[in-house]
Amino acid sequence: MLALESLSCGHGAITAVHGLSLAVEAGRIAALVGPNGAGKSSTLMCIAGHVRATAGRVVMDGSPLDHLPPHERVRRGIAIAPEGRRLFKTLSVEDNLRVGGMIHPAREFARDRDRVLALFPRLRERIASLAGTLSGGEQQMLAIGRALMARPRLLLIDELSLGLMPKVIDACYEALGRLRDEGLAILLVEQNTERVMSVADTITVLESGETVWRGTADAARRDPSLLDAYLGTAAGPAAEEPPPPR
Ligand SMILES: Nc1ncnc2c1ncn2[C@@H]1O[C@H](COP(=O)(O)OP(=O)(O)OP(=O)(O)O)[C@@H](O)[C@H]1O
Ligand SMILES: [Mg+2]
Repeated sequence: MLALESLSCGHGAITAVHGLSLAVEAGRIAALVGPNGAGKSSTLMCIAGHVRATAGRVVMDGSPLDHLPPHERVRRGIAIAPEGRRLFKTLSVEDNLRVGGMIHPAREFARDRDRVLALFPRLRERIASLAGTLSGGEQQMLAIGRALMARPRLLLIDELSLGLMPKVIDACYEALGRLRDEGLAILLVEQNTERVMSVADTITVLESGETVWRGTADAARRDPSLLDAYLGTAAGPAAEEPPPPR
């Protein structure tokens, strides 16, 4: 569904991502991991049309998106739950969902809203609350819910579990699994390597904008050097070895 072909993008003179290639298919979860500043958010923002590609292409359903603005990409089926969530904090939960669904007729709002509330029942209890008063977990659910209101076929999620409690992370991952099973294509940026390994079909590791590893999650699990070097906490026993003496 989505293909990045030798994609480079950046911010002014800074190249954030260089020559990245990856694909995401319907009903699959692709993960993008790597240290701070690796270029993960820049990649998602480039796919969503907020950051301009400087080389290579973003291809959706076989057509390059080239210079399509963000709202046209939403119409092509791409929605993002961005880093920092960027909710409308002084609007209610319901109105945040309304904004997400604005590309569809107003009379279809209730049906789409109810689908999101079925996925995240906690939001139902907070439907009239201002988004700024929600817990971190509820805000993340709302950010994903708002993206789903556009009825995307490709969902981009940046830092799904960052700062959230384990129970909330469980709820978010359960929802992700359901969306995947319904046929959504998901590109996930995640720091929590244990979670990534358990849910992703493919993994791409970025470091300073360069692709340092790509393959299936199974292959990643079998590659101790990769786990050691880039995915730290998922490395198991090796990560628990004491530091070398000075
Ligand atoms: N708006 C911006 N203006 C200028 N440079 C930026 C901007 N956003 C990101 N960068 C730079 O682009 C590079 C990649 O940043 P990016 O935010 O994509 O990384 P990341 O992998 O998402 O990091 P993190 O894990 O910290 O979220 C970094 O060098 C960063 O300083
Ligand atoms: Mg980021």
